[in-house]
Amino acid sequence: MNEANMLDMIKKRRSIRKYTDEAVTDEQLRQLLEAAMAAPSGNNVQPWEFVVVRDPDLKRQLAQTHTWSYMAADAAVVFVVCANERASHHWIADASAATENLLLAATALGLGAVWVGIYPGTDREAHVRRVLDIPEEIRVLCLVPVGHPAESKAARTQYRESKVHYEGW
Ligand SMILES: Cc1cc2nc3c(=O)[nH]c(=O)nc-3n(C[C@H](O)[C@H](O)[C@H](O)COP(=O)(O)O)c2cc1C
Repeated sequence: MNEANMLDMIKKRRSIRKYTDEAVTDEQLRQLLEAAMAAPSGNNVQPWEFVVVRDPDLKRQLAQTHTWSYMAADAAVVFVVCANERASHHWIADASAATENLLLAATALGLGAVWVGIYPGTDREAHVRRVLDIPEEIRVLCLVPVGHPAESKAARTQYRESKVHYEGW
């Protein structure tokens, strides 16, 4: 991918919450996970862990985590992005970087995805932990439902000059 395509891809990434029934292939799954694990991490510790969920009943249970996780039920696959908090104080930043890479890779593959927040909701995290039998030292950052898009959204940035401070505040 050339530089222009990469910058286009960043703007093209949008939260896609509706999916068709088409499957995500094993090859695509691997590409998404490789992209996630290409992310930077503090001291290169890579504390991330990923639970890949394709089972319809488990997806339905994940969809019930909170009001805005419903799309997990219809996604071809749900990635549960976790990290070992005992491995690194940077686990939130590291798992977030991996999540953004996953979202961008999904866009590049023509798939749709959305970041569904779990951390810092303790009840949300407890629910996901219970459904997937996740050990206590493993924290759950978010869910990323992925599927073939059944909605389209315009590419965009949300650039605002007022957010930028040159040479100090
Ligand atoms: C930390 C975080 C948590 C989010 N949680 C949810 C969520 O629980 N459910 C959801 O539908 N979208 C969630 N989103 C997606 C945002 O709503 C979305 O990124 C924002 O509205 C901007 O739209 P865009 O992604 O299409 O640019 C979350 C995004 C982030 C970064």
